[in-house]
Amino acid sequence: MRDREIWAVEWRGEARDGELVLLDQRLLPAEEVHLTYLGAREVAEAIRDMVVRGAPAIGVTAAYAMVLASREARRGADSRAQRLEHLSAARAALAATRPTAVNLFWALERMWRRAQSDDSPEAMLELARALHAEDVDGNRRMAALGAARIDSGMGVLTHCNAGALATGGVGTALGVIARAHADGKQIHVYVDETRPRLQGARLTAWELSRLGVPYTLVCDSAAASLMKHGRIQLCVTGADRIAANGDAANKIGTYSVAVNAHHHRIPFHVAAPLSTFDAAIPDGDHIPIEERDPSEIHAWGDERTCPEDARIYNPAFDVTPASLITSIFTDAGEIAPVGRDEVHRLLASRDTRREQAVPAS
Ligand code: MRU
Repeated sequence: MRDREIWAVEWRGEARDGELVLLDQRLLPAEEVHLTYLGAREVAEAIRDMVVRGAPAIGVTAAYAMVLASREARRGADSRAQRLEHLSAARAALAATRPTAVNLFWALERMWRRAQSDDSPEAMLELARALHAEDVDGNRRMAALGAARIDSGMGVLTHCNAGALATGGVGTALGVIARAHADGKQIHVYVDETRPRLQGARLTAWELSRLGVPYTLVCDSAAASLMKHGRIQLCVTGADRIAANGDAANKIGTYSVAVNAHHHRIPFHVAAPLSTFDAAIPDGDHIPIEERDPSEIHAWGDERTCPEDARIYNPAFDVTPASLITSIFTDAGEIAPVGRDEVHRLLASRDTRREQAVPAS
């Protein structure tokens, strides 16, 4: 199922004896270690600990975890009701890991519906693979769409990691950038290091190095000044959840990139598949924002960087209002301008497309 060399999640083998393999992203770029999972609860832990991260990759991983759960259910339970009970508990454990990434809930919902009609590991794996393939294909479409907006000579800023490591395929925002480069455009990428987990420095820079795309790593706080000095002509980021009006949640700091881009009249784009849209949420104020452990902020390695009694607030995401987003590149077309009606129009075509692309669940 992988699209190319860099990949975050892979299912190896068949339904009854296969295993889920994740690249441990906590160790990048120093070490490339792959971890093998055979149990759904261990996968839930891996998602919470950010062995795997990035909304679409989390969704694909959770789908495979439900395959593992369906296998566990066969071993421990006699009746179908007991098996569904086991699956329901696995689904709840997975759902409790990362509250903002809506792809997680999207994938779990699809897998749960499949289990209602056929909870065999074979049927569950068929759907998980289809969801993974859907992400791979969608990434390619989005990349082509977004790359058309990038011209030779541009400086392009991105925040966090929305590349192959964050999805099942080539990535969303970074897929767009990689495609522009592969098309022969002379671009230079500015990578926000992305405090506090450094997804930009550790992951995006690693991917761009591997792809041979010229880039410069900057502190998050350098972006405004780079814009002022004419080094950036376009910004593109991913999203973890997009509300019905187009407000988009993404890694903390994305909002300030958008505000700065607006001030400097620089286009700010979002790249995200339809599985990242949450039509049930009217606007960004309703998006649940994950708050992570203070330990991500109060230390640098083993060294404490603030007084012992410092109060810490560590929201993992912020919301960029639709009014600051120039357009959204999706796997079903570009949304521009970004607003409730435009989002609604695109989502209206979603069910037909999805049923065509993925076996019914
Ligand atoms: O906390 P993370 O690393 O899971 O956050 C990831 C992001 O914010 C990404 O930009 C988003 O999930 C889109 S990934 C294609």
